[in-house]
Amino acid sequence: MHHAVSSQDGNLFIESTPLSAIASQFGTPCYVYSKAALSNNFLAYQSALADKEHLICYAVKANSNIAVLQTLAELGAGFDIVSIGELERVLRAGGDPAKVVFSGVAKTASEMQRALELGIHCFNVESEAELELLNRTAASCGAIAAVSLRVNPDVDAQTHPYISTGLKENKFGVDINLAAQVYQHAAQMAHIKVIGVDCHIGSQLVDIAPFVAALERLLALVDELAGLGITLQHIDIGGGLGVRYENEEPPSPQSYMSAILPLLADRNEILVLEPGRSITANAGVMLTQVQYLKSNGEKNFAIVDAAMNDMIRPALYQAWMDIQPISAGNSGSAVAESAVYDVVGPVCETGDFLAKNRSLAICAGDYLCLMSAGAYGFVMSSNYNSRPRAPEVMVDGDQVHLVRRRETIEDLLSGESLLPAAVR
Ligand code: LLP
Repeated sequence: MHHAVSSQDGNLFIESTPLSAIASQFGTPCYVYSKAALSNNFLAYQSALADKEHLICYAVKANSNIAVLQTLAELGAGFDIVSIGELERVLRAGGDPAKVVFSGVAKTASEMQRALELGIHCFNVESEAELELLNRTAASCGAIAAVSLRVNPDVDAQTHPYISTGLKENKFGVDINLAAQVYQHAAQMAHIKVIGVDCHIGSQLVDIAPFVAALERLLALVDELAGLGITLQHIDIGGGLGVRYENEEPPSPQSYMSAILPLLADRNEILVLEPGRSITANAGVMLTQVQYLKSNGEKNFAIVDAAMNDMIRPALYQAWMDIQPISAGNSGSAVAESAVYDVVGPVCETGDFLAKNRSLAICAGDYLCLMSAGAYGFVMSSNYNSRPRAPEVMVDGDQVHLVRRRETIEDLLSGESLLPAAVR
């Protein structure tokens, strides 16, 4: 996968722009994305699928900034959405609703209506109850809803339990053993058109075997359905391809597809994918500044201006993310010696850390770059501790574009109101 950051004599660059210039122009914390890395990561999937009819639906949840979506839409991407908010972003970014698949276990009738009105490609239906609501909703709109059933193939993705989704015990999808029955029910519904099948077994997979096992189970189901007179037009194998944060060796889209495509040779179904992380993670970073250094005898702390509200992955998944100074020299007058630090933020929680036990030669005032932060970074940020959310910047060569401004305190308060004065 293409990495956004390069180093020249210890100074970090994103494309041809020094990160130090971005930190001083926009302040910290700040998210920075590379347009070239984003594009190249998408194109890696496209070229791996050159010989197979396909639809690559970027999983919007991974990074939903409209400039990110615009970049991918211009390359022909479709989108995997999980809410109407995400669908409105896709529209705003110039994405084509006819290339949208709608995932999620809890779609509401009003979300279904809006998606039907815009003519999305497919609803990835996750339960029989959802199928019934969709049929009724489509009837009331005078529409036909194209449907794929998300099946749970009961495959262990061997990833963190919070991001593992294809096991029987998970809330997602319909048990693959019950799927044929649900398909037969769907085939009888007047406002449902069955067009596909999908699964998504988890995220940050670094091994191809679980993907292959899941697809084999899907294909057995597709053949069983054909025998029942139900022909599918597409097979959607979800997202989930992992990236390198530390020393993982995830397969490239190319080698992932060369394991998948032989199983689909001589078959007519269109292959649909829903990659998120593998497109955006290594196309982005988060910049932060060291506020204070502090030692309690046993431990050294680098207290930075970014917190778990800005980047929650380390706190929530014990995720390891690389963190590096952005410049070879220190900003302080003294030259720092290397020490082992926990890099922690301003939020009042022990779980508020970005990294633990890292050797860093830093002074207060230095800027640090949290690597691989382009996926599940800004999108998971919150206003906890009344902290305004960080800006997002897109670098395109030597051009730098602010694609979301930093929130203000006024933004934070804008939706709230005081109680009326008491009547006495
Ligand atoms: N399709 C569906 C139905 C999904 O639920 C997901 C991610 C994707 C596609 C995209 O998966 P990807 O290619 O990004 O692995 N916040 C967590 C990851 C949560 C993933 C949720 N579903 C993290 O930061 O590790």
